[in-house]
Amino acid sequence: MVNAGILGMGQAYPSGILTNADLERLVDTNDEWITTRTGIKQRHKAADNEYTSQFGTRAALQALERAGLKPEDIDIIVCATTTPDQIMPSTGALIQAQIGAINAAGMDVFAACSGFIYGITMVESMIRTGQIKYALVIGAEVLTKYVDYTDRGTCVIFGDGAGAAVLGPVPEGKGILATKIKSDGRYEEQLYAPGGGTKLGTTHATIENRDHFFKMKGNELFKVAVRSMADISAEMLEKAGYSVDDVDLVIPHQANQRITDAVASRLGVPDEKVYSNIAEMGNTSSASIPIAMDECIQSGKIKEGSLVLLTAFGGGVTWGGTVIRF
Ligand code: COA
Repeated sequence: MVNAGILGMGQAYPSGILTNADLERLVDTNDEWITTRTGIKQRHKAADNEYTSQFGTRAALQALERAGLKPEDIDIIVCATTTPDQIMPSTGALIQAQIGAINAAGMDVFAACSGFIYGITMVESMIRTGQIKYALVIGAEVLTKYVDYTDRGTCVIFGDGAGAAVLGPVPEGKGILATKIKSDGRYEEQLYAPGGGTKLGTTHATIENRDHFFKMKGNELFKVAVRSMADISAEMLEKAGYSVDDVDLVIPHQANQRITDAVASRLGVPDEKVYSNIAEMGNTSSASIPIAMDECIQSGKIKEGSLVLLTAFGGGVTWGGTVIRF
């Protein structure tokens, strides 16, 4: 059996920016509140004519180029998204067409902010067992089209973007050393969008209730997120045979700076080993980890030999953790 590792990464996001000052004009909020409660200063926002697969496609093409592979080399495309272009076909299949990955199977994973870790966990075992050779895992979101800009509790948090990773066989001792995904659907209503599906459908009432937009119980979510991310991180480090001190870099889902700080302190990781781009990007859900990883690879924070811990938490609720040796 071979190990599965990251061969190349890419990212893309809309050029449009929504600052805290812009939000002050939309809802009763202010820069000081948003900064101290979330760490966010701005987020990228797609234009009306921009949609999820476009950003996923741009990120995927960049990841392929950096991996030195062609679209036709890819066996599977897993697109993690909670904001697909449309309900059918999957955004993974749409990206397949846009990049010309004619030999791949394209599909979506619906696991909210944990989607990228869900995707790499799925393809890791497929690569390790030899069922496939190369996979593209993409986290792509246009969350701002699902955000209720009359709800100050949620609209300040989310932004748009995409990150992509090409995975394939790597030498022993490298690549994904431990990875695990979990969910607990009993916490459904902590972060959800009830409208538009087969339960409530799309009716005048659902539209009037704004049921198609995200609804969040931020306070409750906060506690479950910190506990879940810290616990699965410790479990994955132990499974990989390492301690917190061995880790070169922690890349948590960029949910909110206070969640990141609380996870780091629970784990006992010093701040300088924890990556954050929340101030510039906001929470981009499934895209946040691959965007952050790509930034760290490009800036040299992740280099050959680095031991990196990823951890995510999202609506569902879902969570996951991964230990990777680059
Ligand atoms: N601007 C100003 N005031 C706001 C506000 C905003 N954007 N949003 C909420 N408030 C107000 C509330 O109305 C409330 O006012 P009240 O006391 O008069 O009722 C007060 O701030 C406190 O609200 P609360 O929800 O308890 O704040 P909080 O300290 O929990 O912070 C979050 C809110 C959303 C920032 C915080 O709960 C959080 O970060 N949760 C996790 C969210 C997250 O990361 N989600 C994605 C997970 S993947």
